[in-house]
Amino acid sequence: MTYYALIPAAGTGSRMGSELPKQYLPLAGQPLIRHAIATLCQMPAIARVFVVLAPDDELWPADSMTDLAPKLGVFRCGGETRALSVANGLRAMAAELGNIDEDWVLVHDAARPCLSVALVEKLIAEVGDDVAGGLLAVPVADTLKRGNESGYVVETVPRDGLWQAQTPQMFRHHLLLDALDFAPQVTDEASAIETLGLAPRLVAADMTNLKVTYPLDLQLAEWILAHRSPA
Ligand code: C5P
Repeated sequence: MTYYALIPAAGTGSRMGSELPKQYLPLAGQPLIRHAIATLCQMPAIARVFVVLAPDDELWPADSMTDLAPKLGVFRCGGETRALSVANGLRAMAAELGNIDEDWVLVHDAARPCLSVALVEKLIAEVGDDVAGGLLAVPVADTLKRGNESGYVVETVPRDGLWQAQTPQMFRHHLLLDALDFAPQVTDEASAIETLGLAPRLVAADMTNLKVTYPLDLQLAEWILAHRSPA
């Protein structure tokens, strides 16, 4: 089986409140996006790593990626939404690689820089050849409240069986493209697969694989990277 990684990076990350899109903010001496790309590129199990940029992106730090060049490919075909960026990326992959219908694609957020090799290996091993694919996720630990617009509790949502979805999320190329064409409104790939009536496998990850969304997340990510034991 062949595995590819696809990293949608065509978002602006407006919640960071920064001029620079968050994927390019400095983190531990490198552009944030380089961390996850480097992790995926160093894995022999991953044949190629592709990044989807906005067509008008002038900030992609090509100079800091040259050592990753043999494995790394860049597509400038980002769309209006994450789902469109991923679908466009999947089509660009097929145009470059030929028939990859049955190959696996691991879609990973550019904004999750602390991804570890161990978590990717666990995802690939636990999903195996499950037709519905699967994703990294964390069981919800906190008590969940639904709030109204005025900031008051409307109800407590039972957390039993609830998971926070992370990435990578891995699916066979043709299935994911069909699902995203069928359900383009989704905010993650697993949701698209679910609309086809399939149940992706949940693979337990941990909170170190956080998504950098707000400024404080950058400090947390920096701490995680600094305290990680060498692979
Ligand atoms: O904004 P959010 O953090 O949910 O974005 C998740 C991922 O999707 C990021 O890597 C972002 O760059 C990407 N994205 C994209 N195209 C868009 C919107 C988001 O590739 N139109």
